[in-house]
Amino acid sequence: MSLLRSSGSNAVRQCVRQPQLPSLRASTVALQQRRNLAEMTQTSSFDSPFKGAGGGPTHNIPDFSKYRSSRSGTGNKVFQYFMVGAFGGITALGAKATVQDFLVNMSASADVLAQAKVEIDLSTIPEGKNVIIKWRGKPVFIRHRTGDEIKEAEDAKWESLRDPQPDSDRVKKPEWLIMLGVCTHLGCVPIGEAGDFGGWFCPCHGSHYDISGRVRKGPAPLNLEVPQYDFPDEENLVIG
Ligand code: FES
Repeated sequence: MSLLRSSGSNAVRQCVRQPQLPSLRASTVALQQRRNLAEMTQTSSFDSPFKGAGGGPTHNIPDFSKYRSSRSGTGNKVFQYFMVGAFGGITALGAKATVQDFLVNMSASADVLAQAKVEIDLSTIPEGKNVIIKWRGKPVFIRHRTGDEIKEAEDAKWESLRDPQPDSDRVKKPEWLIMLGVCTHLGCVPIGEAGDFGGWFCPCHGSHYDISGRVRKGPAPLNLEVPQYDFPDEENLVIG
């Protein structure tokens, strides 16, 4: 009995040790591949929404419901309008401040404005005398003319002069002649009470001006320039 049992187990062992047949091996490989594919299909958790149109299990739309606002649509619009308005207001204020700073920067400073106008007390200038003041870096002649000088200036034949101009166009009050003391030839400062016409003489190249400041002789092409001025009252003059 024991001899029979031992010969049976040897036969089984022999069968196991024998190499498998080719057909059995191929069916085993195919079975294994099917099992692997089934496992991959079961364990895949990624479904791309870009697998193609047409719906079906491959077409998934992400769920955004948890990002939606819980407030009503009107409340959202009010908030949006408020934010747009607030940012618009802040931007407008910033632009205004920038433009304002730029304009303040470009305007004249206090010292420049102080030099823009000059006030002179006319009571200190006697009749028949010249005074020279400085205004905006240039000399200004102020002549308190006598009655004879006024008559001479008004009687001159101004139509035939190089720069024709009546005396009445050059003064606001006949007794006060105010001019820039800059020769119209090349910019020298003429000398008062000199020259052939009792007015001013420029020694640089010999230009002669009369008692109204009109050029009468020499290379100067124009009369002496009359600046902007005014008489705020009887005894004061403001130039500028
Ligand atoms: S600058 Fe006065 S005459 Fe030439």
